[in-house]
Amino acid sequence: MFKAADIYWFSGTGNTLLTVRSMAAALSGAGVDVHLHRMEQTDPAGVVPGPDRLLGLACPVAAFSTFPLVWRFVEALPPGQGRPVFLLATMGGMAGLLAGPMHGLLTNKGYHPVGVRQIVMPDNYLRIRPAETCAKRQAKGRLQAEEFARALLAGRACWNRFCPVPYPVVRWLWRRQERFFFHPTARRFQVDPALCTGCGRCAKLCPVDNIRQASDENDGQPMFKDHCQICLRCVAFCPTRAIIGGGPGRGRYRAVADLFGP
Ligand SMILES: Cc1cc2nc3c(=O)[nH]c(=O)nc-3n(C[C@H](O)[C@H](O)[C@H](O)COP(=O)(O)O)c2cc1C
Repeated sequence: MFKAADIYWFSGTGNTLLTVRSMAAALSGAGVDVHLHRMEQTDPAGVVPGPDRLLGLACPVAAFSTFPLVWRFVEALPPGQGRPVFLLATMGGMAGLLAGPMHGLLTNKGYHPVGVRQIVMPDNYLRIRPAETCAKRQAKGRLQAEEFARALLAGRACWNRFCPVPYPVVRWLWRRQERFFFHPTARRFQVDPALCTGCGRCAKLCPVDNIRQASDENDGQPMFKDHCQICLRCVAFCPTRAIIGGGPGRGRYRAVADLFGP
């Protein structure tokens, strides 16, 4: 049904990446030429429109929606000219205002929504569960992602969630959330000076350039600026586990050893 697919993904702690990899493997196995792109490294204006290639968007649920950086990416996509698009979202348990508003936004832009799947993966925020429970949940989620890929190819997938409120209202909501929930959280991150080696990994991983690399000016520690999105990458992938905070769960979760490694 589709010869080629581009999947634009964002993942904080690796759950979404795991499901994207499973989908990509299933699509490739069926002969689709799949390309994965990191959302935060892509200029959305350069995404090719048109009906020939399948477009995939993959992101975590955050605050019953998704991260503002994901909304901004989708808002900045060029007119779709009928390009088929799917949404893959991972979540701890409840998605809220994501699939419906995303459907509306993409349809208004001229895309053709062909399928949505919201997959429950381990919660990385409210409650970090034991490793064994997380592993089971990941395995189930990956199977669901493969099944979603097969459903898309067979034309069995659908995107039947419509937005109960107009998108401008949703936009207003996520912008308020950004200002009053996402951004202030960086103030709650703490860096343990005994553990931080000033390696700069957190600054490199931050998708919104919110972390200033450790330097003598900052007492040899990374400094958090004021536009955090709480994706928790810095907490999850600090090699010495020096960054504390972010979520009420007070734990540290990651689904992969390295987000951009093999
Ligand atoms: C700031 C924040 C807010 C979240 N809000 C929700 C939520 O509203 N509903 C939900 O089901 N999961 C929520 N989660 C959990 C994540 O959606 C879930 O663990 C997801 O799979 C993480 O994906 P990732 O590892 O690719 O970042 C939230 C996570 C974070 C960090």
